[in-house]
Amino acid sequence: MAVFTYIRVLGKNVAVFRMPDGTAQVVNPCCPHLRVNMGLAGTTKTYIECPSHGWQLDGDTKKWNNIQGAEKVPELAEVQTLRSVEVNHIIFLWYHAEGEEPPYEIQPLKETTSEGYMYVGRFECLIDAHIEDMLQNSADNEHLGVLHASKMGLVGADLDGFWSKWLSLLAKVTPKSSWEPDADNPHLSWSRFEVLVKLFKKISFTSRKQLKHIGPGYIEVTTLLAKTKIYGTVCVTPIGPLTVRTTLRVYGRPSHILMGRFILRSFSNIFEQDAPIWSYGKPRLQLNVVKEEDALVNFRRWYSQFYSKNSFSLDCEQRNICE
Ligand code: FES
Ligand SMILES: [Fe+2]
Repeated sequence: MAVFTYIRVLGKNVAVFRMPDGTAQVVNPCCPHLRVNMGLAGTTKTYIECPSHGWQLDGDTKKWNNIQGAEKVPELAEVQTLRSVEVNHIIFLWYHAEGEEPPYEIQPLKETTSEGYMYVGRFECLIDAHIEDMLQNSADNEHLGVLHASKMGLVGADLDGFWSKWLSLLAKVTPKSSWEPDADNPHLSWSRFEVLVKLFKKISFTSRKQLKHIGPGYIEVTTLLAKTKIYGTVCVTPIGPLTVRTTLRVYGRPSHILMGRFILRSFSNIFEQDAPIWSYGKPRLQLNVVKEEDALVNFRRWYSQFYSKNSFSLDCEQRNICE
């Protein structure tokens, strides 16, 4: 049985379903007959059936195999399949404005699929921001100390500063971070964070995080805290102009489940601290950075490889269901 899931992503309407052999397929849900939305078709058998007139589309060939009341199947009545791949429990969709093939592949992260590791949980939020603005957080070393450090991942936005004030009496937090592009693979870059926490001026410990940026909107995160390693995958997906969905999934060994839950919670708190700042809904403007913030400039230079001549810009019209 194939079950359609109808979603909006990259400014497009798409339908995702599984073939009988379990492979995921992503198609344009616009029915070539009268251009209705087939994404609402729900459950089918080994074919996709348009809910309007019952035309049946073969899931393998993407051609119509049964057209109600017609002797001949129109040649052009094909459904557009979008290039996708399923890795690490995520269905990735490939889009290139000039139709080029992907220059890299996303490799499996063994901690998301191997025995001995388990899924801890997920966190998801929608933010009204530009994807690049969101992601450059990884290279924004200065904001860690000002926005995040005093909250230690224990509280969310804390806009009135109440908890930050009290927590700063308990602990001194010193963050350090860096970002750099990968030397060998242009589509990769690395962020490294080290946070030194000194409790009651006596006990101190260090937490480390490594973020591997893979392409424009996927990150693999490794957190090391008290000899425990927790893994995460982050997808930052544009839904449409200035709206991105961030989804974090956390994995760890069964014996580290409590630490995994704590890390998941601290991630969601950190996102809650960033979200009000980035949810401003204005077009991306020129930055005015100081010399010490050259990592931000370098990040933008690295990120520019994911745009090309015909990439959608903010003044592109909203696409309708059949584009
Ligand atoms: S509109 Fe889809 S079969 Fe007629
Ligand atoms: Fe941040």
